[in-house]
Amino acid sequence: MARILITSAIPYINGIKHLGNLVGSQLPADLFARFMRAQGHEVMFICATDEHGTPAELAAAKVGQPVDVFCAEMHEVQAEIARGFRLSFDHFGRSSSARNHRLTQSFAGALDRAGLIAEVSEKQVFSIDDNRFLPDRYITGTCPNCGYTSARGDQCENCTKQLDPTDLIDARSSISGSTNLEVRETKHLYLKQRALRDQLEAWIDSKKDWPILTTSIAKKWLNDGDGLQDRGITRDLHWGIPVKKGDQPWPGMEGKVFYVWFDAPIEYIAGTAEWADANGLDDAAWERWWRTDKGAADVKYYQFMGKDNVPFHTLSFPATIIGSGEPWKLVDYLKSFNYLNYDGGQFSTSQGRGIFMDQALSILPPDYWRWWLLSHAPENSDAEFTWENFQMSVNKDLADVLGNLVSRVTKFATAKFGSTIPAGGDFGPQEAALIADLGQRLTEYASLMEAMEVRKAAAELRAIWVVGNEYLQSAAPWTVVKTDPDRAQAMVRLALNLIRVYAVISSPFIPDASASMMTSIGSTDWSWPKDVGAALRTLPAGHEFAVPENLFRKITDEERVEWQTRFAGIRT
Ligand code: 2FM
Ligand code: ZN
Repeated sequence: MARILITSAIPYINGIKHLGNLVGSQLPADLFARFMRAQGHEVMFICATDEHGTPAELAAAKVGQPVDVFCAEMHEVQAEIARGFRLSFDHFGRSSSARNHRLTQSFAGALDRAGLIAEVSEKQVFSIDDNRFLPDRYITGTCPNCGYTSARGDQCENCTKQLDPTDLIDARSSISGSTNLEVRETKHLYLKQRALRDQLEAWIDSKKDWPILTTSIAKKWLNDGDGLQDRGITRDLHWGIPVKKGDQPWPGMEGKVFYVWFDAPIEYIAGTAEWADANGLDDAAWERWWRTDKGAADVKYYQFMGKDNVPFHTLSFPATIIGSGEPWKLVDYLKSFNYLNYDGGQFSTSQGRGIFMDQALSILPPDYWRWWLLSHAPENSDAEFTWENFQMSVNKDLADVLGNLVSRVTKFATAKFGSTIPAGGDFGPQEAALIADLGQRLTEYASLMEAMEVRKAAAELRAIWVVGNEYLQSAAPWTVVKTDPDRAQAMVRLALNLIRVYAVISSPFIPDASASMMTSIGSTDWSWPKDVGAALRTLPAGHEFAVPENLFRKITDEERVEWQTRFAGIRT
């Protein structure tokens, strides 16, 4: 039994995530966590809400709430949706937790002691009416290059020129519109990442088995232009983790907070500590997952995220950990994803385009989405959600292939032999051939799951369902029963056992349907079928079962058209 630590990129607090976000991090992480648990491994699966930063402050202001109240409410909303999708986190934490405050401040203190923090004086735009410094992208004005009147302080959207806020003509605050701005001097802390460049490179080079997507992004940031840059880790904001050295004040940094991207990944660790707290456990309970001097040396740590998050996890967060000089666990395998597009365009949170997690659950149960998203995960390239493809996938894979097998077998068995597994006959060559085929396929399926080849694993699972259908089709117990009822009984006994096996192996993808299959077959035996022959003899003659409610319903053309129209517009 191995110990497997899994983290999913933690979603921003300001708004509900769309399906593209879901399939790029939380959902595949859940698939992997469920699979690893099913193999008997000890799993710790952590996610959280990413609560700091200007967008959270602005989103709270927009709805007229204090930012802490807003975050607490939105955390509950996101937690509820995560439960709706059956995301099996061991803990869903909050980056604003006391644990994260302490750990973030402690990391900053350790980095300072290691000589890796520099204090830098900068000029920044202060909005007198907003009583705050403005991040570059919250300053709007006229582009000096092309005359576009809504250029942002960091870049002109119209001509793409990179800008400095002081370049803008008629600059104004994007928050209040005020032009009452002045440039003030302010001091910030920088993490000297350049000093860690060689160590980071050696570490990345040692990861020979990482996906190309992950390594290529890491290398690009390591080597592009001037290479790895030192990084500002503080901000002049009100909402965030106050800048301290451990529990000591940081002279000159009063009123400042850590940059959201500094504290967010530390929440992976803090979230595990929150898990221990929530379960009444001591520090040793979470430290054995994270501290290599306290038992974590044999933990395998996997991270899941979209490609835009890769630089932060291959360079910035490792720089924090390595630079601290403390024995924290570094990631062992980083699984990253491309983007999922939506019906001919992009999913967009800012523009409200696409299907958002709450909307998805309002029209169909989680398994339908889980199956489509995972079987189309954007692994090797971007992928696209279309309603036609979604309808086809649900109707064929789930309803026709899996659902139909389950209902056909249980109904036929009940009609002919009653509600217990029939005893007659024995398995013959046809069953032996099926067992051999399934044995090979299951080995392949398990190794794809282990390798996090999500799409290929889904395809193999589907193939396993198909093989069961083909067996039934050719064995045809409904015909055989007329001439050789004993033989038909053996077939039915195998097919009923097959439902249990399918429930077990499908449950990482479609946990609800798997639970229904297990209930209808009257079993609680979730053991993974390592030996298919034995697994197909698990439920004995005389064992009681029932016909389940329809496992999956089909999506009609009318629904597809209606949803396509309903979700074409912009969500406000
Ligand atoms: O891209 C995002 O949604 C970020 N909130 C991810 C943060 S992951 C990590 F750093 F915790
Ligand atoms: Zn311009």
